Amino acid sequence: MNILVTGGAGFIGANFIFYMLEHHPEDRIVCVDKLTYAGNLSTLAPVMERENFRFVRADICDREAVYGLFEEERPDIVVNFAAESHVDRSIEDPGLFLQTNILGTAVMMDACRKYGVRRFHQVSTDEVYGDLPLDRPDLFFTESTPLHTSSPYSSSKASADLLALAYYRTYGLPVTLSRCSNNYGPYQFPEKLIPLMIANALNDKPLPVYGEGLNVRDWLYVEDHCRAIDLILRKGREGEVYNIGGHNEMRNIDIVKLICKALDKPESLITYVADRKGHDMRYAIDPAKIHGELGWLPTTMFAEGIQKTIQWYLDNRGWWENIISGEYQDYYEKMYGNR
Ligand code: NAD
Ligand code: TYD
Repeated sequence: MNILVTGGAGFIGANFIFYMLEHHPEDRIVCVDKLTYAGNLSTLAPVMERENFRFVRADICDREAVYGLFEEERPDIVVNFAAESHVDRSIEDPGLFLQTNILGTAVMMDACRKYGVRRFHQVSTDEVYGDLPLDRPDLFFTESTPLHTSSPYSSSKASADLLALAYYRTYGLPVTLSRCSNNYGPYQFPEKLIPLMIANALNDKPLPVYGEGLNVRDWLYVEDHCRAIDLILRKGREGEVYNIGGHNEMRNIDIVKLICKALDKPESLITYVADRKGHDMRYAIDPAKIHGELGWLPTTMFAEGIQKTIQWYLDNRGWWENIISGEYQDYYEKMYGNR
């Protein structure tokens, strides 16, 4: 199969490419990525020379470039990870989120309609359901929970979800959607909670906790998310939404304290800062559907996954220090400037 993966130079997309090349070496992967600040070609260096892998720098909003690529590659399956993904940035500047996350998704689906595919999979998020109150631990997001978004980011993702379901109903496009909880693991950009706290702690910098740090997120190791998407591609039903999560709810402050302990850094680094505007209190996924229909269960428990993740950031300081120091553009010029 020829699988087109958008946003594959980002955190989850890159982990998905590694997962697929390892578990399905018979398939070919074409990665399309604009290489925004969040996309890093160095992440894909280990697979760049593989015969069954191709990287193309393009914007999913660029209809001509996307159609040209479909003309050349005729993908069987498209998995759309490409997105602006950071809630805080969406609060500062929503426009780009609407552009990439909604219009970019529409361009990808138009290409799928025009050239024909066996599946278009939209990688969505549990944030489309809004949040749950802290005093109702009995409540979880199911696939039929109403969409009730809080941030420009989650609103743009919910819009793309609705558009994908409309393309299924109106045009019969073979669409599936997945809504996953917060991911953590290797190659996550150090603007998100876990890698930011690890990087700051290692540099003995303050650890900025929003509000009182009582907000709850439901954390899943990235590889478990990748395996769930692979299962949906192969066995999932068209037109369906699948929630993905492993029942691992944690308060932000507890995660930050755990990182301090693991790195032997003092909790005095923790600094409480102004809360995020519209800050969602609690996310919690009910994964009964994907478990019951596809047999998916997470395999990496948090205690193990967070240790692996911290160790990865210790072993790969160069990766995130380059990003932090903004040297990444030089890397790209050096690798691709004359190609
Ligand atoms: P990321 O920000 O690390 O990566 C996004 C990638 O998309 C980058 O490589 C970037 O260069 C690329 N990109 C951005 N705009 C583009 C465009 N216009 N054209 C082509 N490429 C573009 O994000 P991530 O954390 O890997 O998230 C991937 C997807 O998973 C997103 O759709 C996100 O909404 C979803 N998701 C993320 C999480 C999470 O916890 N990180 C949880 C659930 C769902
Ligand atoms: P984040 O990783 O941005 O993911 P999301 O907002 O999509 O869930 O943030 C996770 C939680 O951590 C969220 O409640 C906001 C909080 N947070 C902080 O307290 N400090 C920080 O510096 C960051 C980046 C996040």
